[in-house]
Amino acid sequence: MKTVVCALVLTALLTGCDKAPIESSEPTPEFLAEGLKVYTQNCLTCHMADGGGVPHMQPALDGSPSVSGDPTTLIRMLIQGPNKVLPANRPHFSATMPSFSSKLSDEEIAAVLTYIRQEYGNHASMIKVQKVTTIHNQFGGG
Ligand code: HEC
Repeated sequence: MKTVVCALVLTALLTGCDKAPIESSEPTPEFLAEGLKVYTQNCLTCHMADGGGVPHMQPALDGSPSVSGDPTTLIRMLIQGPNKVLPANRPHFSATMPSFSSKLSDEEIAAVLTYIRQEYGNHASMIKVQKVTTIHNQFGGG
């Protein structure tokens, strides 16, 4: 009997452990709301409310492979500015996107990137604050 109880407890624990990472990889509504706020205050003037950008000036974020692609490159774009991160032969836009390294906190960067990865028809994974902090420490603010 004791073994059965132990097995049940173990199963419950394992199921619990299994579930936690899945839940925490989904952003909370609060996190997405913070992302929208950061977007509205820092990105909207260039990339527009619907993420559609402005032809020849700023690229669209909806459907952008950069947005739903590699999280490290995306985070570096905000910390260092796209100029230092994207390939030189990319399409040219007449505006210049600044670095947000000193303007936004790691949490704000994670929130806004998660927001754009899950809005405008994009369906990519969330960006965690911890990941932004790691990249921030690695690539600094320059
Ligand atoms: C002053 C205008 C401006 C602002 C403000 C701005 N961007 Fe940009 N963004 C650009 C331009 C211009 C590019 C193209 C950069 C390049 O290719 O060098 C770009 C590129 C990007 C890309 C890459 C898209 C692609 O498909 O290559 C992402 C992602 C992005 N911006 C996100 C953001 C986020 C998030 C914010 C707010 C925190 C923001 N931008 C604020 C002008 C801006």
